[in-house]
Amino acid sequence: MASPPITPWSDEELRSKVGQLFIVGLHGHVASEDIKTLIRTHKVGAVILFLRNVDSATQLLQLTNSLQETARKAGHKQGLFIAVDQENGLVTRIKSPVAAQLPGSMALGATGDAENAYKIASATAETLKSFGINANYAPIADVNSEPKNPVIGVRSPSDNPETVGRFVSAQVRGLSEGGVIPCVKHFPGHGDTAVDSHYGLPVITKTRAQLDACELVPFRRALAEGVDSVMTAHIALPGIGDPTLSDDHPSKKVPASLNPDAIKILREEMKYNGMIVSDCLEMDGVRATFGTEKGAVMALKAGTDCVMICHTMSAQVGAIEQVTAAVKSGELSLDAIQASVARVEALKSKYVSNAPIPISTLADCQARNAKQDSLASAVYAKSTTVVRSVAGSFPIPSDSTKKIVFISPGKKPAGGGAVESGEEKTREPYTPSTYIDLLRLHDPRVVDVRFHDGIPLSPEDEKHVAEADIVIFATRNASLSPYQKNYGLSLGKMFGDKLIVIATCDPYDFLEEMDEIRNYITIYEPTIPAFKSAVDIIFGVTKPLGSLPVGTLPTKYDIMPLSKSDDDVLHLWNLWQTILPKWPMELKRLAKSLRQEHGHHFIHEAGFVMSFFFSIEGINHGKITAVGVLPKYRGKGLGTALIAKAREALTEQGQLKSLQIGSVFPRYWPGVPIDFTQETKNFFLHRGFRKPVEPTARDFYRNITGEIAPPDILARVAKLPLKFVPWSPGLYDECIAKQRANFKNIGWVEAYERLASVNQHHEALVAIDPTTNAQLGWTLMCSPSAVVLDDFAFINLLPSKNKTGLIGCVGVDKEARGKGVGLALLVKAIENMKERGVEGVMIDWVTIRGFYELLGFEVAWEYESCEW
Ligand SMILES: CC(C)(COP(=O)(O)OP(=O)(O)OC[C@H]1O[C@@H](n2cnc3c(N)ncnc32)[C@H](O)[C@@H]1OP(=O)(O)O)[C@@H](O)C(=O)NCCC(=O)NCCS
Repeated sequence: MASPPITPWSDEELRSKVGQLFIVGLHGHVASEDIKTLIRTHKVGAVILFLRNVDSATQLLQLTNSLQETARKAGHKQGLFIAVDQENGLVTRIKSPVAAQLPGSMALGATGDAENAYKIASATAETLKSFGINANYAPIADVNSEPKNPVIGVRSPSDNPETVGRFVSAQVRGLSEGGVIPCVKHFPGHGDTAVDSHYGLPVITKTRAQLDACELVPFRRALAEGVDSVMTAHIALPGIGDPTLSDDHPSKKVPASLNPDAIKILREEMKYNGMIVSDCLEMDGVRATFGTEKGAVMALKAGTDCVMICHTMSAQVGAIEQVTAAVKSGELSLDAIQASVARVEALKSKYVSNAPIPISTLADCQARNAKQDSLASAVYAKSTTVVRSVAGSFPIPSDSTKKIVFISPGKKPAGGGAVESGEEKTREPYTPSTYIDLLRLHDPRVVDVRFHDGIPLSPEDEKHVAEADIVIFATRNASLSPYQKNYGLSLGKMFGDKLIVIATCDPYDFLEEMDEIRNYITIYEPTIPAFKSAVDIIFGVTKPLGSLPVGTLPTKYDIMPLSKSDDDVLHLWNLWQTILPKWPMELKRLAKSLRQEHGHHFIHEAGFVMSFFFSIEGINHGKITAVGVLPKYRGKGLGTALIAKAREALTEQGQLKSLQIGSVFPRYWPGVPIDFTQETKNFFLHRGFRKPVEPTARDFYRNITGEIAPPDILARVAKLPLKFVPWSPGLYDECIAKQRANFKNIGWVEAYERLASVNQHHEALVAIDPTTNAQLGWTLMCSPSAVVLDDFAFINLLPSKNKTGLIGCVGVDKEARGKGVGLALLVKAIENMKERGVEGVMIDWVTIRGFYELLGFEVAWEYESCEW
């Protein structure tokens, strides 16, 4: 038997590294012996807290301090990640009175203003930090596109992917600026499933294109904006892997959290280099399919950095042992483990301190909670939504003598079942018993009636209901709970305009029953302050301000493919001139580029998008050249819709290797001009286009009416034993062959071919070795009449206007580089162009520094690249 590969690390080092990749949960209110063993012996680097770990403010801070102390004493180089799922709203692990109750994502979505999301996330960070919690597994970036979804529902801000992206971005910013690590979850999107991955493995059968258009949108934006971490979900997505595999192939059934194809989307396509964590591997989506321990190895092997096991010590230790064994056997790559450890360490140095937080700091706790309560109540007031109402039904005047009966679903008196892992279930179909107190603050006589599935009302309650002048009926997810739904509909029949329904969780309960339920209010979470804001509206204390963040039809824009008719071209030109006044276009030039065959352009009454598709040696590229919307129509989603149209059209041509903002031929901007407003740059970033770290590209310009080059350079050029001749048909084959072999730039060789095709060889220059007659270098030296210049949208905006020539596509054969051939080509090209009446020269798309400057060229325009 072959002996297993030996790691370069000692057992102690290996244990420390593996431990850093685990996130574990504990039971109880103090650091248990189990968690201490995990931290001391197994060097576990991250702990997740639940409701079961929170009793009071002092206890919580003592717990986190003692966890950090254990790590410190056990010799951990850095402190622990101490994390929680404080999504707020429905999923609030640290509850009032320990922390203020803050609104969850859908309540935030209903305010329509992402600034509220930022403020609430900042408040969350302030609270978490005060308790020594440095990571939050929030916000939810899932799009709630499936109303029947039992997992996400109101935990997502909306069913519109762009809106989700906007709110997620604000929440991420609020948390990270507040010193808490945000984590967007559940990649690649848990919104369109009817199965909860706690209890089974959901399958999303969408195609990759559908995922791109919906689920991936908020993740792409958060990642482009550099979110620190992302959590993967236990959801199978057969649409993301190899399309040639049969439907029953095992890899189609692997949850994303364990699937290398899913991680590849993050690492390779989205170029994400932050920390990837898995959702809890004790959820049935993994536990019941592959097993928690094996799941840990599979997740790390797939490219996840950290795995989470929340509940059971034996599973936690078992998984650590299996991962350690997999590193020793070579099943898990040392490089990958090292890279994950490095990501953990980098994030810890940014956010984690293991210094104890003095208990005395909790003196501020009450004041902070009071401040946050008032922030929250202002936001709840902006979110609570009157979906529809009949005039006169409410507000109820304070001196009303009418009999008000409040009916709500109660917890079933018998049974109830064990509460799993100390957590409340978020889908319980009953509402808090304290709602009545809020109503009685306005009218102490309000009658409280609780109803239950399968249990008839008592005769006394029946009598109250029969005598009611106004019924306020609270539901909780009635669209999934037939007894609530049916009872609500029967109340609707009985009371008509006198029935006011409050959906306390998902807003779908009676969204469609407009005739039966005429007064319908949605509050998006069954929390006390959310319900209070509905009561305030019913009794006229506040006016309704929220609007439904789901179920509203997205704005449909009448966007058409550009027909290339004179009318369409003229319309686009008119839009261009108004939208981009600093970059005026000649109509003829624009028309010519719009009519090129590889163009995919779209037009709307108030906006346009231009894009081009290229395929070079079988590799496809898309360029979104320009997008514009008339100022008065901006901020309403038209720009987003135009970009989406262009992307769709380009992807339909074939799978794209790259999609960039910019253009090659026709040549508008190589990327995004750096002096575009930040708002415009953000527009692309927020749509998921990344800003690569490469150097900017520059267009250079120089007036050539004076000297051709400084004397020392002219002298150097004169000494070169080379011949410089205008290109000619006889030089065609060698030139093209060598260029193809040397340079892969899109459009480069094509530019030479285009000159040749119209017999304009003399618009390029060739350097030749006179002894061998071999061609060594080439450059375009185009006068304004060269065909290639038709493609340069902005060349005539330079100071020499229509006497501007172009030097571009300068290339020197590999063997001849570093000997001054390039510089000489430039000098000779300028000489030749000057002789032909050119007054200024543009050099196109330069990424190298310090070369063209030698000849006195200066930067005319500068661009940053922007890639999807
Ligand atoms: C860049 C440009 C095309 C964007 O067009 P737009 O129609 O305003 O784009 P959208 O409305 O889709 O998106 C703009 C913002 O409005 C927001 N928005 C859209 N609909 C919204 C709504 N119903 N409620 C609130 N915000 C909304 C978007 O979310 C986005 O904000 P975000 O980026 O923070 O998420 C436009 O500003 C423009 O023409 N600029 C000048 C031309 C230019 O420089 N073009 C680039 C050349 S390549």
